[in-house]
Amino acid sequence: MDVIVRATTQDAVKLTARLMADELRKQPDMVFGLATGRTMEAVYAELARMHREEGLNFTHAKSFNLDEYIGLAGDDVNSYRYYMNKHLFNNINIRPENTFLPDGTAANPDREGRRYDEAINNAGGVTLQLLGIGRDGHIGFNEPGSSLRSRTRAVCLTPETYEQNSPLFARREDMPMRAFTMGVGTILESQKILMLVTGDEKAEILAAAVEGPLTAMVSGSAVQLHNDAVVIVDEAAGRLLKHRAYYDFSFQADPRWAAYR
Ligand code: F6R
Repeated sequence: MDVIVRATTQDAVKLTARLMADELRKQPDMVFGLATGRTMEAVYAELARMHREEGLNFTHAKSFNLDEYIGLAGDDVNSYRYYMNKHLFNNINIRPENTFLPDGTAANPDREGRRYDEAINNAGGVTLQLLGIGRDGHIGFNEPGSSLRSRTRAVCLTPETYEQNSPLFARREDMPMRAFTMGVGTILESQKILMLVTGDEKAEILAAAVEGPLTAMVSGSAVQLHNDAVVIVDEAAGRLLKHRAYYDFSFQADPRWAAYR
C-alpha cells in the first residue's frame, strides 16, 4: 500500500485523475470501478476537462459503480446513476451502454447482487477501482460489520451515513436507508485500488483505515489486504497519520512516482 499526502485537496484530486487517465491511456479497454459522493465530483470534473482539452478517450472503456440506493430509479435526481450521468458520463465519450450500476429498483435483491458480480466478472473484472471513505469507515456502502469477503448485496445504512448523505436530498427524509453495494470481497478482486480521502473530518477514520487494525468494523481497512493499493490524501485528511514521514520519503525516493512528483 502506498500512501501519498498532497498539500492541497486540488493536488490530491489532480493526482488521482492523472493516475486514472494514465491507466486508460495504457489500456483503452480497461474497466473502471467508480465511486460517487462529494469527494469524487472534482475528480470527475478533472477527467471531463482532460477529455475536452487533451482528447482523453473513453470510447473503449467500461465502468461499474460501487453502489446505488434501493428504491431509486436511474432518472431520480438522488440516484447514483443520475449523479454519474451528470458529473461524468455526459461529459466524456464513454458509451452509455458500457456504464453499469446496480439496479436500485430490482425486485429480487439477492438475484441483483449475484447478477452484478457476474456482470463484473464477464467484463473481465475491474482494472482500477476508485474508492472514497465514509465517516463510519465504509467503502462503497459496506457499513461496519460487513464481511471482508462480502459480495455485492443489499445492505442497511447506518445512522452516521444518514447524517453524512441526507443533506444532499432536497428532503432529508427521502434518503433511502438501504442500498446495493459491491462487497468488500468484490472490491478486493480489482487489479488496482485508488482511494482518495480529503478534508479534516476524514482524518480520524483515514488513520484508522490505513494504520489501524484490519477489521470488518472499518471496511476501509481492507485496502491493507490489497497488493496494489494507493491511498491519496490531502494535508487535512492526513494530519493524524503516524508514518507520515515515511510516506513522504517513499513518494520522493520511489522511481515509480518520479513522473508524478
Ligand atoms: C459512494 C461511495 C462512498 C463514498 C463515501 C464518501 O459511491 O463509494 O463510500 O465514497 O461515503 O463520501 P463523500 O465523498 O461524500 O464524503
